[in-house]
Order: sequence, then C-alpha cells, then structure tokens
Amino acid sequence: MDINQVYRNTVLSVANNKTVQDLVKQRAWSVAKRFVAGEERQAAIQAVKELENMGVHGILDLLGEFVDTEAKANEFAEEILQLLDACEGQGFPIYVAIKLSSVGQSITLANGENLGMVNARRILKRAQELGGFVALDMEDHPLVDITLQQFRTLVNEFGNKTVGTVLQAYLYRSEQDRASLDDLQPNLRIVKGAYLEPESVAYPNKRDVDLQYRRLVYQHLKAGNYCCVATHDESIIEDVKRFVQMNNIPNSQFEFQLLYGIRRDVQTQLAKEGYTVRAYTPYGRDWYAYFSRRIAERPSNVMFVLRGMMKG
Ligand code: FDA
Repeated sequence: MDINQVYRNTVLSVANNKTVQDLVKQRAWSVAKRFVAGEERQAAIQAVKELENMGVHGILDLLGEFVDTEAKANEFAEEILQLLDACEGQGFPIYVAIKLSSVGQSITLANGENLGMVNARRILKRAQELGGFVALDMEDHPLVDITLQQFRTLVNEFGNKTVGTVLQAYLYRSEQDRASLDDLQPNLRIVKGAYLEPESVAYPNKRDVDLQYRRLVYQHLKAGNYCCVATHDESIIEDVKRFVQMNNIPNSQFEFQLLYGIRRDVQTQLAKEGYTVRAYTPYGRDWYAYFSRRIAERPSNVMFVLRGMMKG
C-alpha cells in the first residue's frame, strides 16, 4: 500500500471514531463550509447561481447517507422533490445527485418493493418533467451490485438523458462493470473512489487507480458514450483533452466535473476553454461524512481543519 493510501485509510478510520465525530461536528462548520455550499436549500441554489456566473454548472446534492427507516427515507426523498421544484425557473440546468441508500435502498416494503426504487422513480419522474438529470452516486463496495442493477432498471424506464451513475477506478471490477453497461449507452461519471476499501476489492496503490481511471474514461468514450470526467487531477485532465483531440471526440460527448470549493481555478479555466464543467455542490446539515472524505483526500487539509478548529 502506498503512502497516499495509508494517509487516506488513517483519516477515514479516525473520522469514524465517535469522540472525533462529536468534536468535529461541534467545531468545524466554519471549515466545512469550504466544501459545503450551506446547510439550507436556498444557500445551495444561490451557490449554483454564483457558479453559473463563472461559466460552471452545478450538481446539487442533499447531504445524507445510509438510512434504515422508511420514515427517514421518505422524508429524504421529499426534500429532494422539493429541491427539484425549487430549481424550476431559476435559469440553470437542473442536475441533482442522489445516493440510493439515503432514499431507502436497504428497505423492502410489505408488498416486496424496494423503497429506494420507489423513491428513485418519484424523483426521476419529477426531474424528467423539468428536463433535469439525476446522477446515482456510488457508495462503498457492498452497494455496487445493487446500485448497478437498479441503475439498469431505471435507465430502461427513464432513458440515459435523465439518469446516470458512477464507476470508481479503485475497484478491480470497474472495467468489467463498464463493459457490462455498454448496451445502455450510459452516462457515466468516472471517479477514483472515496471510501475506505479493503485490498481484496480495491487497488491499494494510487498509481494503479490512476491507470485504471484513464482506461475507464478512454474505453467509455471510444464506445461512443457520454463520459463525466470527475477529477481534480490535472495530469488526467490534460491527458483526456489530448485523447479526445486525437480521436476526434466532440466536446458534446464529455464534461469535466469537480467538487465545490476544490480547484476553482481549474474549474473556471476549463469553462473558459469551452468545455462543459459541473461542480458537485453539496448542502445540508448532515455534512460530516462528506467532509471527512474530503479531508482524507489531501494531507494539507488536516492542517487546514486543525487551524480552523483552533480559531472556531
Ligand atoms: P487525487 O485524489 O489524485 O487528487 C488530485 C489533485 O486534486 C490533488 O493533488 C489536489 O490538488 C486536488 N484535490 C483532490 N482532492 C482534494 C481535496 N479534498 N482538497 C483539496 N484538493 C484536492 N467518489 C465516490 O466514491 N463516489 C461518488 O459518487 C463520487 N462522486 C464524485 C463526484 C465528483 C464531481 C467528483 C469530482 C468526485 C466524486 N467522488 C466520488 C470523489 C472521488 O472518488 C475522489 O475521492 C476525489 O475526486 C479525489 O480524487 P481526484 O480524482 O481529485 O484525484
């Protein structure tokens, strides 16, 4: 395992500790707001409008992870429906990301239906009526099979202009997963992967992850599909630009995606160069897990948090 992975695994393990969670939750909002647009929907909508002024579109994400009760899953889905309604007529493309686990993926209803699918259909129906798009985020590896199966069903029902999903380059299985989805001509976001995963399922070295990242993007584009290149890694971004040029792939077949608050300079530069750019813009009160993953990605972020917490 290389040093980057050791650092990432250590931070993610510490972040799961209850005492650390309580301390950070009390003191770190002033730091977390670098990565999170706000705690309320209106703040997120405002943040997307500001991005639009810089030529960058937004991907709205209501923060929240795995829920285990029907009531909480339905409440979460309601909030996403309200978010979609609130975006209507705001003058920016409607694009939201959801985690199926937060709308009931783990819950089977008395009639045998999966609650995550019931809620996903409600959300997709509304998004489609508004001409919007919904990306199904990818979570940790035990959820990959079910998420891909559900994605397949949802693309068949709503089409690939309304729903897309994500593949993670750190998982050994992702190349095979990508090929297995080709018949759907899916809109796929390719990411490196943000969760704490064992070596039995994920590459332990960054170099292998980066290599598989490029392979996934190139294969997906070569197959004629739409690709969301979601990374801040400038060497990958430059390689993708060269690849599309050499292979005559039009700008309309891909876009760059980055996270809110990270490498804004790259976001605006890519937009100026004429590429479609979207910034994943999370909001909501449940920001802790998302925030921990961002800290785990970069050693200098730990100092940034500690300094912020001292001040806070
Ligand atoms: P890498 O980690 O190699 O970083 C490259 C460079 O980017 C760094 O050197 C640094 O300059 C900058 N950088 C990266 N992270 C930073 C940070 N936190 N703070 C400051 N600088 C940073 N994951 C997942 O498992 N499921 C998902 O659904 C998604 N969805 C998603 C959407 C979008 C739009 C993005 C951009 C990312 C995700 N991710 C994700 C997260 C992804 O898996 C990955 O953890 C992060 O993007 C960081 O990896 P990079 O590709 O940026 O490369």
